[in-house]
Amino acid sequence: MPVPLQTALLELFGSAFGDPAPGEVCFAPGRVNLIGAHVDYNEGPVVPIALDRGTLAAARPGQDGRIRLVSRDRPERIEFDLEASADAPLEGWSAYPIGLCRAFRRAGHALGGFDLAVAGDLDIGAGLSSSASLLVACARALRAAFGLELSDEQLALLAFAAETEHVGVSCGIMDPMASALARPGHALYLDCRDRSYEHLPFPREQVSVILVDSRTRRDLASSRFNERVAECAEAVAELSRVRPEIRALRDVHIADLERSGAALRPEVERRARHVVEEIGRVHRFREALAAGDHVTCGALVSASHASLRDLYETSTSALDFLVKEICNVPGALGARLTGAGWGGCVVALLERGAEQRVQDAVAPRYLQVFGQQARFHLPRQETTS
Ligand code: GLA
Repeated sequence: MPVPLQTALLELFGSAFGDPAPGEVCFAPGRVNLIGAHVDYNEGPVVPIALDRGTLAAARPGQDGRIRLVSRDRPERIEFDLEASADAPLEGWSAYPIGLCRAFRRAGHALGGFDLAVAGDLDIGAGLSSSASLLVACARALRAAFGLELSDEQLALLAFAAETEHVGVSCGIMDPMASALARPGHALYLDCRDRSYEHLPFPREQVSVILVDSRTRRDLASSRFNERVAECAEAVAELSRVRPEIRALRDVHIADLERSGAALRPEVERRARHVVEEIGRVHRFREALAAGDHVTCGALVSASHASLRDLYETSTSALDFLVKEICNVPGALGARLTGAGWGGCVVALLERGAEQRVQDAVAPRYLQVFGQQARFHLPRQETTS
């Protein structure tokens, strides 16, 4: 847990709400998905890894049935009467903790009013799952404040319900699961159908994960993400007419596409092909990681990017440029856009030690061509808990 952030959070809590201090300060990291892009809502496997950045939250049960919220990043204190405005529309950042509170109550967990403070160090809108990190941190803080017997996995499902049902964003299950379950030093192999998972040891002493933020932004709730979700559903509806056991693209083989290709609209066929091939890459990535074959891991990550660019069409010229420039630097193993796409970050796997070399080579080129500074997130030296 980043220590300066913890101090800032406790100061914020004290100045907004006074004594007593909250019992526990809870952390939830952001995540970057190494491979398995746009696979979660198609019920396939993904391999996210926790970042060393995220959100801290602390809560204390209140006396008067009101919710009081403060964030280090927003000046105003928000107050909300949960009973009186149980169905009021939610907006702004407070939609997340309030939506979460509704999800807890709908699931039968007794929550009264509370005071809650949050502080984070994730860039918002960069595709690093700041919303899942906020939700999971708040869920942990509420679990601690109200002494609820809930596992991290249950908290992830409540966070998912909050975002999809109460905030109204059609995100997948990966982000809250990754934020709640991923362990330092490991990638998380998550099956998004049955939600089983495994912690895969990640060799940080040999391979670095860096993020390069293109500083171009996308809106997750935007029509383009929802359009991809709808195109995948359209493919499933069509393909299942031939093979009724197909419930999601997870159940589709390339042979199904070749057989039914003519029945699918061309762009729908491309989306489905990306997902089916990406699932194959996830399996190969997992095997290569276990075998210590980092060159193959990197090549699969780069192949994922090419598929996002050409078949899923979620890339941009800035992201393509960053991936290409990074991969040209000695020591780079592979790179791809991460998150939903249409802006945000590139994730790269590098041989340990190549981080600064990559930044020195790529930063000036990006500035020269795109007229703005890319933001490099190199791994911190200290570990997080
Ligand atoms: C966004 C969503 C995730 C996932 C990715 C694409 O980040 O929140 O659930 O679908 O896009 O892999």
